[in-house]
Amino acid sequence: MHRLIDKVAVIAGGGSGIGAATAERLAMEGAAVVIGDLQGDSAEALAQRIQDRGGRALGVQCDISNDVSVAALIAAALDTFGGVDLMHANAADMGAIMHDTTVLDVPLEIFDRTIAVNLRGYLLCTRHALPAMLQRGGGAIVYTSSAAAFMGEPERVCYGISKSGIHALMRHVASAWGKQGIRANVIAPGLIMTEALREHALVQLKADALEQGRSPRLGEPTDIAATVAFLASRDGEWINGQVISVDGGVSMR
Ligand SMILES: NC(=O)c1ccc[n+]([C@@H]2O[C@H](COP(=O)([O-])OP(=O)(O)OC[C@H]3O[C@@H](n4cnc5c(N)ncnc54)[C@H](O)[C@@H]3O)[C@@H](O)[C@H]2O)c1
Repeated sequence: MHRLIDKVAVIAGGGSGIGAATAERLAMEGAAVVIGDLQGDSAEALAQRIQDRGGRALGVQCDISNDVSVAALIAAALDTFGGVDLMHANAADMGAIMHDTTVLDVPLEIFDRTIAVNLRGYLLCTRHALPAMLQRGGGAIVYTSSAAAFMGEPERVCYGISKSGIHALMRHVASAWGKQGIRANVIAPGLIMTEALREHALVQLKADALEQGRSPRLGEPTDIAATVAFLASRDGEWINGQVISVDGGVSMR
């Protein structure tokens, strides 16, 4: 399928896992992809792999919690590919989550860092990408959230707060700019077997995820990538302001 020919996609947090699979999928569908990541080497290596297969890609070191860094990411997309049609805000601080406990004892630095990356970072991605998208007459913003946004969890209080906040940001953007052709949506993945989780996730965690789902298998990064590609394409043209769970039926609402 080549639904994204002539489109330019920015993936913030595209160096590994879900973001990397998304960059590959969007490039496969014909988009030029700008891969931003804190790990600049990973972003550049992935861009090179896509180029080697004949795709258009650029890797950029970027910290989405930093205003100047996000502005530079969008500027790189404009300079190299002439515009922005899709912003996929996907990064999360997966280091902070290890120390993310309860409201009573979570270190405030963990709260601040989680919000700075997972929520403020998404606001910055939106703020810098929107003007460029409006110049093109519209575009799609796809935020990565989590089931943690709507499931009560006894731990990971900061992560859940940050992901819930993304839903409010998304609805604001969809409401304010929908008439101008901007579609903003959230994907809430269930447990996705990224390379990191494949290596480190507890056997019990995987077994529980399989048990709780209504699918014969666990989630793959390509499941999320395919949904981003759909939302970015004309096939998703009438979808705006939604939270789409891609979780094998773990959550049913
Ligand atoms: N894997 C899952 O099971 C799962 C489930 C639900 C939600 N999610 C969400 O999916 C998204 C991607 O997660 P993943 O599992 O692919 O993790 P991952 O760690 O493989 O990917 C996250 C990427 O974001 C980058 N990053 C981290 N902080 C950054 C920053 N400040 N600026 C720029 N880049 C930064 C990392 O370097 C990494 O490449 C996250 O938002 C996560 O919360 C993942």
